[in-house]
Amino acid sequence: MQKILVTGGCGYIGGHTIVDLIQNGYEVISVDNLSRGSLRMLSGVEKIVGHPVKNYKVDLCNLEDTEAIFIENPDITGIIHFAAYKSVPESVEKPLVYFRNNINSLVNLLQCAEEYKVNHFVFSSSCSVYGNTDKLPVEETAPLAEPESPYARTKQMGEAICRDFAARHPEFNVTLLRYFNPVGAHPTAMIGELQEKPENLVPIITQTAIGKRSEMQVFGTDYPTRDGSCVRDYIHVMDIANAHTKALQYTIEGNNTQNCDIFNLGTGNGVTVLELIASFEKTSGQKLNYKLGPRRPGDVVAVYANNNKARALLDWDIKYNLDQMMDTAWRWEQTLKKEAAKIQMN
Ligand code: WQD
Repeated sequence: MQKILVTGGCGYIGGHTIVDLIQNGYEVISVDNLSRGSLRMLSGVEKIVGHPVKNYKVDLCNLEDTEAIFIENPDITGIIHFAAYKSVPESVEKPLVYFRNNINSLVNLLQCAEEYKVNHFVFSSSCSVYGNTDKLPVEETAPLAEPESPYARTKQMGEAICRDFAARHPEFNVTLLRYFNPVGAHPTAMIGELQEKPENLVPIITQTAIGKRSEMQVFGTDYPTRDGSCVRDYIHVMDIANAHTKALQYTIEGNNTQNCDIFNLGTGNGVTVLELIASFEKTSGQKLNYKLGPRRPGDVVAVYANNNKARALLDWDIKYNLDQMMDTAWRWEQTLKKEAAKIQMN
């Protein structure tokens, strides 16, 4: 059984990916310093897969502690690197914190991969590397524009670091995955997005619908789109997770000509904010209390993926539609409410 090191395994996409990896026959260990991730995620993952999953509570910015994981696990076949800070507004407020954390952790990890000959690496990137592009659907070959935030810049830099490292090490194979907007939760509703004060649209919608927030705003309805609200490519987190398993297989098989390949992970469908709200209200049966407000600075009007390359080369396809994204997100929010009620009673 091939052993895979998943960094950020106690986070939203990392946790869901561990489930998919294990259900596809891999052995997984996680490293997560729990600064953003949580053991609640890991316990949910363990319930779904039916056995414990080891997490090393290590800060990847500490090279010695990171090396110790590779010394203890000389049989690591591949690495999937999620661990990074990912809040756009926080990165604008604290750019150096983002550069230190997101870049130093990657460099340390690549240094360990070099030292301990772990030659298969999947890097979590983001559609935010494209900036404000007007050529839609966006292809992997699109030129990268000036990023909208320091967060997005750390993803552009991360890709460049992986590319340069791969150029120096032909035996090393790295796959860069550019996510669009991951949403939803595992169908069992035992794991999902865990953010007390979310900034992203879907957890804000579900927290408003469950009563955690009194209302939410649609940021801008005067954009040049179908209904005036922004267009994004929302993709179910389990489709993202399965894409990682497929990308890992692709990276290990090594049939790719270049040793650094890039894939868009999106559905290829652009959906407006108002269309997503309509889907949420339909699937949940909840009337959402939202106001139409002003634009949010930094938002791009529209971005959605051309995902043909990933579907062709990774043998990957989309399994969840928008209604299922909203249904699983809503059922997860209801799970959180029940758990909070239980804690209050004890
Ligand atoms: C989606 C749409 C908002 C909240 C961000 C990061 C990106 C990636 C995904 C990490 C926008 C609108 C939102 C609200 C709203 N993260 N909105 N009311 O900005 O597309 O992407 O998350 O990889 O890097 O930039 O996602 O969910 O914040 O916003 O109207 O209360 O929802 O204006 O049009 P975004 P989002």
